[in-house]
Amino acid sequence: MKGIVLAGGSATRLRPLTSTLSKHILPVYDKPMIYYPLSVLMLAGVRDVLIVHRAHHAGLFRELLGDGSHLGIHIEYAEQDEPNGIAEALIIGADFIGDDQVALVLGDNIFHGPRFTKVLGDSARELDGCALFGYWVSDPRSYAVGETGPDGRLVSLEEKPDRPRSNLAVTGLYMYDSDVVGIAKNMVPSARGELEITDVNRAYLEQGRARLTELGRGFAWLDMGTQESLLHAGQYVQLLEQRQGERIACIEEVALNCGFISPAQCRRLGEQLSGSAYGSYVCHIADRHGPATAA
Ligand code: TTP
Repeated sequence: MKGIVLAGGSATRLRPLTSTLSKHILPVYDKPMIYYPLSVLMLAGVRDVLIVHRAHHAGLFRELLGDGSHLGIHIEYAEQDEPNGIAEALIIGADFIGDDQVALVLGDNIFHGPRFTKVLGDSARELDGCALFGYWVSDPRSYAVGETGPDGRLVSLEEKPDRPRSNLAVTGLYMYDSDVVGIAKNMVPSARGELEITDVNRAYLEQGRARLTELGRGFAWLDMGTQESLLHAGQYVQLLEQRQGERIACIEEVALNCGFISPAQCRRLGEQLSGSAYGSYVCHIADRHGPATAA
């Protein structure tokens, strides 16, 4: 399965923070925002990642993440000229996806909770069409809202409905089979001029090939599109990390746990960040995992 992180957009709601910077580089407590969605793809077992970004932000991402080889993954980059919608990433990434399955994650979303790695693995393994992830919210009227049948299949999908049929918001993580490129290429822009991901998902719904897995109670799904939600996300990460002593979305740790890098490689990454508590943590994780003797 390939993976795409959507890190374009205009981030108007975060101006002036985003007047010169991509939102996806902004700090979320102890690490740049993009670490969170990137770690989701890695936890799903994805080792080929495409980061879609605005042209003027290219240097930032390359400097931060390079070609991904230090994490045992392969990262490519592609430009999105204008924020023409989330589904445009599937067209921009058509050659990258090829005949493979693909997981698409929004670059400003945090997913964190129990058994998430298993949910991701099961969804990728059992993928037949499209897999969406639903999150119970008290007021779903500003989201795409999904409704499932008894077998977990999606039976209805509505964009920002006035009278929602369920409380399940569709989150910013989507898995698709290779048909998705053809589906995206045949779409027309919505009234607001964007290629809407909900239209892609609706195409799978109409074929009876869309599943919606509910991320249960105790799970955190946060987006970081406004000043307030960005601050809340940082506070959430700080609270849990300080309380538990484990870091959320530490990409070096994820790479180690996924078997993408050895303890020795992980330790070197930690040493490169020496002087920071984050770097000490990466070294500690590497040492806990095993002797730093392997290549
Ligand atoms: P949004 O939050 O919908 O849009 P935005 O990031 O441009 O912010 P604002 O509404 O404040 O102007 O985007 C969700 C995520 O998807 C975010 O990480 C940016 C990304 N995105 C793209 O990469 N390309 C796009 O064309 C759009 C619409 C979003």
